[in-house]
Amino acid sequence: MIIGVPKEIKNNENRVGMTPAGVHELARLGHQVLIQSGAGVGSGFSDQDYQQAGARILDSIEEIYEHGEMIVKVKEPMPREYPLIREGQVVFTYFHFASSKKLTRAMIDSKAICIAYETVEDSDGSLPLLTPMSEVAGRMAIQQGAKYLEKPVKGRGVLLGGVPGVAPGKVLILGAGVVGTQAAKMAAGLGAHVTVLDIDMKRLRYVNDIMPHHVVTEYSNEFNIRQLIQTHDLIVGGVLLKGSKAPKLITRDMLKLMRPGTVIVDVAIDQGGCVETTYPTTHEDPIFIIDDVVHYSVANMPGAVPYTSTMALTNVTLSYITKLAGLGWHRATEQDPGLRKGLNIVEGRVVYKEIEETFREAPVLV
Ligand SMILES: NC(=O)c1ccc[n+]([C@@H]2O[C@H](COP(=O)([O-])OP(=O)(O)OC[C@H]3O[C@@H](n4cnc5c(N)ncnc54)[C@H](O)[C@@H]3O)[C@@H](O)[C@H]2O)c1
Repeated sequence: MIIGVPKEIKNNENRVGMTPAGVHELARLGHQVLIQSGAGVGSGFSDQDYQQAGARILDSIEEIYEHGEMIVKVKEPMPREYPLIREGQVVFTYFHFASSKKLTRAMIDSKAICIAYETVEDSDGSLPLLTPMSEVAGRMAIQQGAKYLEKPVKGRGVLLGGVPGVAPGKVLILGAGVVGTQAAKMAAGLGAHVTVLDIDMKRLRYVNDIMPHHVVTEYSNEFNIRQLIQTHDLIVGGVLLKGSKAPKLITRDMLKLMRPGTVIVDVAIDQGGCVETTYPTTHEDPIFIIDDVVHYSVANMPGAVPYTSTMALTNVTLSYITKLAGLGWHRATEQDPGLRKGLNIVEGRVVYKEIEETFREAPVLV
């Protein structure tokens, strides 16, 4: 199969859909990989690295889409890419269709086969191609939060780890899923006092079992949240209700209960956010302040650490890419029910139930 890897054109997106190691593996299996010149630069890979691994370098994004039978990338196609996507072409990437009618319409019209990373499932129902990005974002949340707690950027002026004779900072984590546990691990490692909330007792038991004693768990409810936000310096939002918008656990009136300089990192912003006052920001302008509370709500946090994120993503996508390339999308999705769950739009038809339902109410697709 001929596999095309374009350079990402979304604002501040430096990840790339394939590393030289992936090219090496696919070339070894007899496939041809076309890489757009400069596609890997943001992640630390030069054209020469790809060439040495066996790829052909093409200059323009148009050539990649023209010759690639399967396109492998990271973010959803941008409007400039819509007319380049061809009938019958396989596009394997993050789509997040439910958040964009325009993208959904364009992909229906293209008659391409759109396989979304975010809906591919493991046999236990988990989302193997989404997990690594939550791991990155969870760990980054503490790094970013620690930075914005500094006084020059309007934070409380607290060092999370404290020093001998001074108590450490306090971190409150909403949600004990992938983001939450990774954030807890980082915060605990810095020496902060950590409180993790969830409504799922199994998750709280897990956190309680594996974390050190300065990580405590509490049940998530409004009463507890109202109490805890008054004493915690950094609040991380990592809740998810699969397939729906995130619940607003922190409401506007609660900001008044927090101390000036408290920092909120709302990782769940890509699902609407779990804080009433957050809206999506970018790495160029990541924070804003309301009622003296610093809000950080970047929608593509992993994009800021492209080397780690590209490696983490491609570690898990490559086995699916080799399967799709070796068997063709039809047989590959027939044989692998988890990969089949990735099929979102096929030759002009929405085949993923939740997306179909999302847009059934929106007249755009009828
Ligand atoms: N901003 C970014 O760059 C970025 C990157 C990766 C992931 N995310 C987002 O982060 C969010 C979390 O992802 P995840 O992989 O950790 O999900 P997950 O499913 O592993 O964990 C979510 C947790 O939230 C808990 N939860 C649900 N309702 C709750 C409530 N009322 N109170 C407390 N906990 C509650 C669930 O029980 C679950 O344990 C998702 O929205 C995901 O899309 C954002």
